[in-house]
Amino acid sequence: MTPEEILAEVAKEVSVCTRCPLHFSRKHAVPGEGPARAEIMFIGEGPGFHENEQGRPFVGAAGKYLDELLAGIGMKRSDVFITNIVKCRPPGNRDPEPAEIETCSQFLNRQIQAINPKVIVTLGRLSMARYLPNAKISAVHGRAVQVNNWLVVPMYHPAAALHQPALKATIAEDFARLPELIARSTPASDDHDQPPAENQPPKQLSLF
Ligand code: URA
Repeated sequence: MTPEEILAEVAKEVSVCTRCPLHFSRKHAVPGEGPARAEIMFIGEGPGFHENEQGRPFVGAAGKYLDELLAGIGMKRSDVFITNIVKCRPPGNRDPEPAEIETCSQFLNRQIQAINPKVIVTLGRLSMARYLPNAKISAVHGRAVQVNNWLVVPMYHPAAALHQPALKATIAEDFARLPELIARSTPASDDHDQPPAENQPPKQLSLF
C-alpha cells in the first residue's frame, strides 16, 4: 500500500473506532491531516471542542496560533502533517488516560510509519512522554533527540503559550530551529513496511 492509502485506511478506521470510551462522547473523530509525504509531523494531545465539531486537528485558538508559528518559519499548514496522540476528544478537555493513549497508539504508529517524516514535533507534555517518558518539557523543549528511528523535537503546546504569554518567545525560538533540523535530517529508512519501532525504550539518545 502507498503512504496515501495507509493514511486513508487509518482515517476510515478511526472514524468508526469504538476501542476506547472516548468514542461515546465524540461528535467527529479527528484522525489528522496533511500530505502523506510530509517532512515534518506535529503530534498534539487530543482534539478539543472545535476539533470535535469539525473532525479536523488544531482548528481552534491553539490551531490559529500553530498556523502563525508555521508562517513565521515560512511554512504552511498544508506542508505538514498534524495529528494527536488520541483521535477523539476527551470529555471536558481532560487529559487522555494512559489506557486511551495506548489503545489509540496503533493508529498513530501506522501514520508515522506511513509518512516516515524527517522530524516529529511533539506538542505538549503528553505527546512528548510517548518518546521521552521521564523528561521535563521545561528542560528539553526545542532540543532534537534521536529516539529509535525518529528525530523528535519536543515543544510546548501552543495552548500553553496562549495561557502564558511569556512562553511565546520560547516557542517561536524553538520553531525557528526546525528548518535547519529538517535540512540536516535524513529519514531513517525508505522502507515503509518496516515493523513499528514505536513504544520501545529509546535505543540511542543524542541531543543537539
Ligand atoms: N489541542 C491539541 O492537542 N490538539 C488539537 O487538535 C487541538 C488542540
